[in-house]
Amino acid sequence: MVLVMGRPGGGELGAVVGVLREWQREGAVAQLHPGDVGWFWRFGAEAVGGAVRVWRRGGRVLAVGLLDGERLLRLATAPEVRRDEAVARRLAEDLSRPERGVLGEGRACVEAPGDALVQELLAEEGWGTDEPWTPLRRELGEPVEEPGVRIEVTGPGRAHVRAAVQRAAFDNSTFTEARWRAMAAGPPYDDARCLVAHDERGAAVAAVTVWSAGPGRPGLLEPMGVHREHRGRGFGRAIALAAAAALRDLGASSAFVCTPSAHRAAVATYVSAGFRPLPEVRDRRRDG
Ligand SMILES: CC(C)(COP(=O)(O)OP(=O)(O)OC[C@H]1O[C@@H](n2cnc3c(N)ncnc32)[C@H](O)[C@@H]1OP(=O)(O)O)[C@@H](O)C(=O)NCCC(=O)NCCS
Repeated sequence: MVLVMGRPGGGELGAVVGVLREWQREGAVAQLHPGDVGWFWRFGAEAVGGAVRVWRRGGRVLAVGLLDGERLLRLATAPEVRRDEAVARRLAEDLSRPERGVLGEGRACVEAPGDALVQELLAEEGWGTDEPWTPLRRELGEPVEEPGVRIEVTGPGRAHVRAAVQRAAFDNSTFTEARWRAMAAGPPYDDARCLVAHDERGAAVAAVTVWSAGPGRPGLLEPMGVHREHRGRGFGRAIALAAAAALRDLGASSAFVCTPSAHRAAVATYVSAGFRPLPEVRDRRRDG
């Protein structure tokens, strides 16, 4: 049976998120998480539908891709087909050939699990590698230490505060209260929380969104940031600790995050909050 690529209909997106949840396994190499789709949901369900690609064989979903922008496809595969030659070959062809309608001509990146055969086949098709990223993981078997600051779980009435911290932390952020509402309306957010840290004077200084993939599975931090006027005072460490604690409350077995290795402050912040760096990973990159 051949592997067929398609776009999920609006009603199917929830099921695709469910498949991504099931593919998150403790001890396995990390891959596209329901939280990555959940964070993308800030652009609305229609945008998610336009950005998701699904590969099916005999009706069964074997791979899911998220076009995170026009030039980056983030890929997850069913764990049991990760080394399947026919699946990998079809994926590599679909990603390499612009006429297949996934990635266009010119520069493009593919994020795929490090142990997936598609990585090697893309290399054979002439793809190189992009800059190194550092995955970090904190186990959640034991309770997480207190963050030492006041943490608020964002509800609809305080979405503007969460959004304002996001914009104050990331230079090009377009996050708004409306985008928060769109995100919170998506099915991945059923297992997510936004947290905002406050300083001793009550100012909102740091924020994070955490995404559980269900009990006993790795949870994700995406995104995390500290207000640019409040850096260097331990709030990054504090919000990362609060994120880990929230994921533990949601039943996650570990907290996971990935950041560019060149971003020394972010790596240092996660390490300071008890996350352990894992071997670096790189996207596949084609320069055109
Ligand atoms: C990365 C970021 C969260 C750090 O926040 P912060 O509040 O300044 O961090 P903290 O004060 O809690 O510092 C945490 C640790 O990182 C270290 N650190 C902070 N900035 C650093 C830097 N520029 N270089 C090296 N180490 C740094 C601190 O020394 C501290 O380590 P320690 O606990 O061992 O002393 C903040 O710079 C930020 O929001 N950046 C933009 C958004 C972003 O990139 N988010 C992360 C994406 S995954």
